[in-house]
Order: sequence, then structure tokens, then C-alpha cells
Amino acid sequence: MDSKQDLQQGIDSRRTVIAQLIDNPKTGQEVWVMGWVRAFRGNQFIALNDGSTIKNLQVVVDYEQFPESLIKKITFHACIAVRGKVAESKGAGQSIEVVAEELEIFGAANPETYPLQPKHQTMEFLREKAHFRMRTNTFSAVFRVRHAAAYAVHKFYNDRGYYYLHTPIVTGSDAEGAGEMFRVTTLDPKNPPMTEAGAIDWSQDFFGKATNLTVSGQLQGEIGALALGKIYTFGPTFRAENSNTSRHLAEFWMIEPEVAFFDIYDNMQLAEDFVKYVISYVLEHNADDLAFLDQRIKDMEKQMKAQDRREMGLLETLNFVVSNDFERITYTEAIELLHNSTPYKKKKFKFPVEWGSDLQAEHERWLVEKHFKKPVIVRNYPKDIKAFYMRLNDDNKTVAAMDVLFPGIGEVIGGSQREERTDVLLQRMAEMHIPAEELWWYLELRNFGGAPHAGFGLGFERMVQFITGMGNIRDVIAFPRTPGVAEF
Ligand code: 4AD
Ligand code: MG
Repeated sequence: MDSKQDLQQGIDSRRTVIAQLIDNPKTGQEVWVMGWVRAFRGNQFIALNDGSTIKNLQVVVDYEQFPESLIKKITFHACIAVRGKVAESKGAGQSIEVVAEELEIFGAANPETYPLQPKHQTMEFLREKAHFRMRTNTFSAVFRVRHAAAYAVHKFYNDRGYYYLHTPIVTGSDAEGAGEMFRVTTLDPKNPPMTEAGAIDWSQDFFGKATNLTVSGQLQGEIGALALGKIYTFGPTFRAENSNTSRHLAEFWMIEPEVAFFDIYDNMQLAEDFVKYVISYVLEHNADDLAFLDQRIKDMEKQMKAQDRREMGLLETLNFVVSNDFERITYTEAIELLHNSTPYKKKKFKFPVEWGSDLQAEHERWLVEKHFKKPVIVRNYPKDIKAFYMRLNDDNKTVAAMDVLFPGIGEVIGGSQREERTDVLLQRMAEMHIPAEELWWYLELRNFGGAPHAGFGLGFERMVQFITGMGNIRDVIAFPRTPGVAEF
């Protein structure tokens, strides 16, 4: 090995990141900037972006001074490197610019064949070009915000003494009991081993049993909570529900805190503190991106009918949510409110409103957007519409469940106090046809050193959707998986 070569400095050592340059400009300084061409005009101005900020750096290239073959390659989304001096900019819109002395083309992007055009593109079109969409202002802002929100999640829990627990992705149990799971198998689909009874013999499969991708890390999270006290998970979860909506993904990320010595009231408080913290963090650290996303919505709304526009702008909504208490009501109160509502009286709801049936999106939206006009936490749902592990209340009819409902999004959080009484749990499992043998360890957890405990799951993409104001959940995850879609 050539040790001298090993010690040579790489490209990065001469590069200046655009965000840092714009934040802390020194005129006269010589820099190398590298990035993608967002726009060019007047035969000398290039707007360069390297992903570090929503702001473009203005690069001044005297087209006369460079060979035509190079200049021809300065096209939309081509990747270039520029050496030059930082100067004060005379033009409006930016305070500094870099005057190019040396120019290198890293990657040309032939405008005749490059899939994106420097014009407005629909979200649907950009979804099909997911390998290029992060080069647009909207998506780069969304993914910087997503990063900041993820970091804030870890910071929130770490600062409060929670341990990050990695729960398994391949599992043998259906945590939600909803049966919407993706099978994981190495058996030959054409010729699977069969039992004498004529069923597929999963005991011969890779794990010696039938396995799936997890729908939630909660059950294993409870194991952590009943030893470490406070844990949280943050991982991918999978649901094979055939929901083609703007709120559902087949693969999404969930954050699930689980806490010993916690009841439903502690749980609601944690949920409220948590989402407010994440929103505040992004407001503080991603002001430029949020200002861009706020303006984007205002521009889109210019073409909309008045009744389709948001009542509050994006930034206004976020500031409102962090500075106001969430409303807290019981399911029974929610039903009463709905019964007295105008759309109910005018028979405008599509789904029935009766004690015992689940709240539908239209009901949740009325409560949150029309009635309370703020986030609402609904608790104590009828036991028959909720999962087996939720703690039965003294009325024997409801469970200590809680959903956090957000304007424009609906349910962002679902959680509960857990049933810690083995006899009650067994009864509930029997009622809901959950086989006790498979969850033997979940039952032992109660029989040996059990404790009151509670937790919840926050759908990370729904949260990012709320913070960015993006209309479709497919536009806040880099590579969405939905029914019929697993490209990239
Ligand atoms: O309400 P869910 O199903 O709750 C659970 O899975 C519990 N085990 C959580 C817990 O108590 N630890 O899901 C939690 C959240 C929902 O409120 C929603 O925000 C999100 O996960 N979610 C989805 N997000 C995107 N696409 C889907 N298909 C989703 N399903 C649920
Ligand atoms: Mg739920």
C-alpha cells in the first residue's frame, strides 16, 4: 500500500457546504462548492443547491471565460463543482455569491432525456421519479424536516431517561390481533410441505413456525418496560391492509414508548408532551424549510375555493398546537357531542354514530376541526372495538384506550394502559380468539413481577405529514410501499 496516497486529503476537505457558507459568509474567501444546478439565467447566474439548505447559492459564471463544451453542460439538475471567491451580491434575493474561477462537471443531466423538467410537476409524477424527487425544493425540505423530527424523537426520550429498545421485525405474534400481516417464509410457494391434515406445515419453515413482519413492537416493548422501567422503540412496522388512502402505508415507522408504573392519565400527558416537543424542535431548527412549506401551501391555495383552504396556515397551526392544551374527552362524551352535531341531525355522516361502533374519519374530523378546533385525546373506548391487551375499566364495558386526533390527519397516536391482571387478560383473549399458547411469555410477564404499565404508538409519517402540511403520506417517506407499489 502506498502510505502517502492514503494520507492524501479527499474531495470533502476542500469543499464548503452551502448552508455554512450562507450562514457565515466571508467575502474574499476562496471556496469550492459542489451541488446540483437548480436554475440558470442570463448567461451567467447559476442557482446551486447541495441539499444542506432550502436556500440556493448564487454562482456567477462568466460564460465567455469557459469552453463552450463545459457551459453547455450547465443544465437543470446537472452536478457541478465550482471554485471561486465569495463576493457580496448586488442582486436581490441573496446577500452573497461565488464568482467562478474554475468549473468542473461531475455529472451532466441531458435535458432532452432527464426525466424532470424545470417546471411545476405533479406529486403523482414525482412519486414515480422517487430517485430524483429529493432534488426539488419541496421534497428536500420534507426530508430535512423528517430527519429533524426523528432526531427530536430520540432526544426527547433520551433526555427523559428512556432506553431505545430494538424490537424484532420478524415475529410469530400478531400484536394488534387484526390479522393484517405480511408472511415471511422461505418455503417453495409451488411445493410447500403439507401436514397430514392438508395444511401447510410451517414447522418446516425457516424459523420452525409461521412468521410475519411485525405490525407493532409493543408486546416486546412491554418486556423491556417491566425490567428497564421506561423504553421506546422506533422502527419500521408493516400492515397488509388494503387501504389506498392518503393516510396509510404498508410500511411505516412507529415510535412506541412503554412505561412501567404508568396509567392512562400519565400516558395522555406523555403523548401530549412528546408531540409538542417534536413540533417545537422542528419549528426551532428548520425555520427556513417550514417557511418554504408554509408558502407552498399558501400558493397552492390561491387556486382553491375558499371552503377548501386551511383555516390556519401551516406555521400558524404548528405554533397553535404547541401553545394550547389538547382537549381530553371520553368516547362516551364524543358520541354525545356527535349526536348533538349539525351534520348528524342533517344526516350528513355516512357512517352510523352509536355507542359501540368505531369513530370514523368523518366523526373524528368533526370533533377536531369543527367542534374543538384543536388536537383531541379520546379515551375509554368500548372494549369490543379495541385490542385484547387494553386494560378493562371498572364499568366492564370500556377499556383504558386513548387515541390522539389531529386536525387534517385524524389519528396520529393510539395507545392504552395495559391489562396487567392475568385472569382478566385471559378472559379478553378468549373472547377475541387470541391463542394463549402463542403468547405464553406475555402471560408469564404478568404472573411474575407484573406492574401497572402503559404506552402508545405514534405513526411517524402521519406526524411528519402534519408538520410539513403534505397532503399525501406517500410524500413524506422516501420510498413508499402501498398496495401495488414497491418500486425503488
Ligand atoms: O393504533 P395502532 O394500530 O396502535 C398500535 O399498533 C399499538 N400497538 C401502539 C402501542 O400502543 N404501542 O397504530 C399506532 C399509530 C396510529 O395511531 C397511526 O398514527 C399509525 O400508527 N398507523 C399508520 N400509519 C401509516 N400507515 C398505516 N397503515 C398505519 N397504521 C397505523
Ligand atoms: Mg389505532
